[in-house]
Amino acid sequence: MNTTTTANTTTDPVNTTDAASTADPVNPTTAPLRVTLLVGSNRHGRFGPVVADWLLDHLRAHDDLVPEVVDVAGTDLPTTFAPSPEATAALAEITPKLADADAFVVLTPEYNHSFPAGLKNVIDWHFTEWRAKPVGLVSYGGLAGGLRAAEHLRQVFAELHAVTVRDTVSFHNAGASFDGEGRLRDPSGPGAAAKTMLDQLVWWGRALREAKEKRPYDGV
Ligand SMILES: Cc1cc2nc3c(=O)[nH]c(=O)nc-3n(C[C@H](O)[C@H](O)[C@H](O)COP(=O)(O)O)c2cc1C
Repeated sequence: MNTTTTANTTTDPVNTTDAASTADPVNPTTAPLRVTLLVGSNRHGRFGPVVADWLLDHLRAHDDLVPEVVDVAGTDLPTTFAPSPEATAALAEITPKLADADAFVVLTPEYNHSFPAGLKNVIDWHFTEWRAKPVGLVSYGGLAGGLRAAEHLRQVFAELHAVTVRDTVSFHNAGASFDGEGRLRDPSGPGAAAKTMLDQLVWWGRALREAKEKRPYDGV
């Protein structure tokens, strides 16, 4: 189910009806991977939900993945890192969706040659939740397609002991790439890029999940 394609307010929803908690994580070799899509934009009038809906369709269509969504625009995390009631309430919503994930896809726009501050804030509020898990990157923006934001995120996730997969998906002049109904004007290239990225994510997700079963990752 797609959301609105005009994306006019910060509260424009990203469809979150898939609940990764319904996945049965019994067998680390064969069970589908729980993947949390982290939607990074929170700008008033944002375009993000259009790209997020397209991406969610690909996540849902992948047999090895069960998606969950954390939308930065839907979080109310303070930037002070104080354990206030406000922070505790916000974390109660977000943290389980990160902790339970076997893998992540981070969707980021590019603001001033990097990724949004709100996305960094959600990342920084967490630590072990990212550890020894793979991260796929999807970016969008103007001429550069958000590639600088994606490359900056690699540095951040390396610090958090997460593994960013090699291939990315990027949308150059994102607004012009989709029609008024939120459909890609030319879906073949992005669709192929998404398949490559998600297949790499699944490989890493399975490999790391099995490895952690045998030897928990302690960060040394
Ligand atoms: C403050 C700001 C800075 C931006 N800086 C860049 C930039 O450095 N490179 C780029 O390609 N696009 C840039 N853009 C364009 C955004 O990437 C584009 O508008 C995108 O749709 C923003 O995502 P959002 O609509 O989900 O917030 C910028 C937009 C804003 C609002």
